[in-house]
Amino acid sequence: MNILLLGSGGRECALSWKLSQSPLCKKLFIATGNAGTAAYGTNVAIGINDFEALKTFCLAEKIDILFPGSEEPLVNGVYDFFKKDALLQHIIIPGPSKEGAQLEGSKAFSKKLMARHNIPTAAYAEFDESNFEEGLQYLENHSSPIVLKADGLAAGKGVVITSDVAEAKEVFTEMIRNAQFGDASKTVVVEQFLTGIELSVFAFTDGKHYVLLPEAKDYKRVGEGDTGPNTGGMGAISPVPFAQAEFMQKVIERIVEPTINGLRSENIIYNGFIFFGLINVQGDPYVIEYNCRMGDPETEVVMPRLENDLVELVLKMNEQKLNEVSILHSPKAAATVMLVSAGYPGEYPKGKVISGLDKVQDSLLFHAGSKSNNGQIETSGGRVIAITSLADDLKTALSMSYQNAERVQFDGKNYRRDIGFEF
Ligand code: AMP
Ligand code: GLY
Repeated sequence: MNILLLGSGGRECALSWKLSQSPLCKKLFIATGNAGTAAYGTNVAIGINDFEALKTFCLAEKIDILFPGSEEPLVNGVYDFFKKDALLQHIIIPGPSKEGAQLEGSKAFSKKLMARHNIPTAAYAEFDESNFEEGLQYLENHSSPIVLKADGLAAGKGVVITSDVAEAKEVFTEMIRNAQFGDASKTVVVEQFLTGIELSVFAFTDGKHYVLLPEAKDYKRVGEGDTGPNTGGMGAISPVPFAQAEFMQKVIERIVEPTINGLRSENIIYNGFIFFGLINVQGDPYVIEYNCRMGDPETEVVMPRLENDLVELVLKMNEQKLNEVSILHSPKAAATVMLVSAGYPGEYPKGKVISGLDKVQDSLLFHAGSKSNNGQIETSGGRVIAITSLADDLKTALSMSYQNAERVQFDGKNYRRDIGFEF
């Protein structure tokens, strides 16, 4: 199989590491990749939303599998673009149709789907310019904290948790009237605040059947003890200690199966990953959000614990035979610690030389924001490198990653020293 993977972060580095291990993988290309993915395949300079350029490349390189790492091309309809083109429709895409990708692309769409299929989630209401005044009234009667969400994609920044009605009204007005998040916040979902601990659950589906990948927990805040602004993710662990059989059974019965069956019953084409962002409220799971791709940095702990051949899973998906697959989760614990640039998630410098990569022992390095420049590896993003370790227990895995975090050097390096702190 010739594979083209779309994306350039730590998630795509972990996916390219995993895909390249498959005996079924003949050639692997990554658009656009990073200094880490270059070890597992060939980086190509094509924009992931430039569908015509993807078409030309896929035909020239006889690509068999187009593997979207990030949500953007899916929400923009890459699946439909390929399936409608006679020259491209044979190419296998582990990802949903444009309509299916609305699960992530529109909070209002996903809330309505959950309501139709009785999937537990926070109570909500939806507002835009047409019922703006009604929205202000609704906030007036809402208990605090109040969660406001931009309907569309806002690069992970579209959720604001407000502590009182006055602040909620201000943010609500900014979002709808002053387009705080551009078109994404023309529609706003107002949600009840749920208290609990979050986790990420991943299904891989062929539309009819599914397999569950190892679950994970990510650490979104920049500061220790879950403080400071949200980031793309500062680290992750897998398994999640509280995700025991009884809780996971509720997740399957109340959330995973109703979602997949619900999509199917509504004739929404959905293949590939469903990321369930869940919160455990006193033993009961609720959906916080869906994503139509794997998580980052969760992938950096999930892929090392997945013992199946990922290319084989994609082929089984294509045959709608995922029911024939036995999924194998490693009994080991995985932890990843993200090294980030000074200032991230705010402004940060780029082009800092990274050294000490050759001194890392017994961990996997998944590059996130790095690039090669004249034989040197330099920082090129906020999140720079994820250091993943596997061990018999979580504490050992974490200490291995932390030892290696000391060995990798670049100017302004920052990381959280308390990943997995609650367990
Ligand atoms: P999202 O982009 O939907 O994942 O939201 C970002 C973060 O906001 C989540 O990971 C939660 O920590 C928080 N959040 C979102 N919705 C709620 C909610 N209804 N109750 C409490 N926290 C929430
Ligand atoms: N780690 C959260 C996400 O990938 O959206």
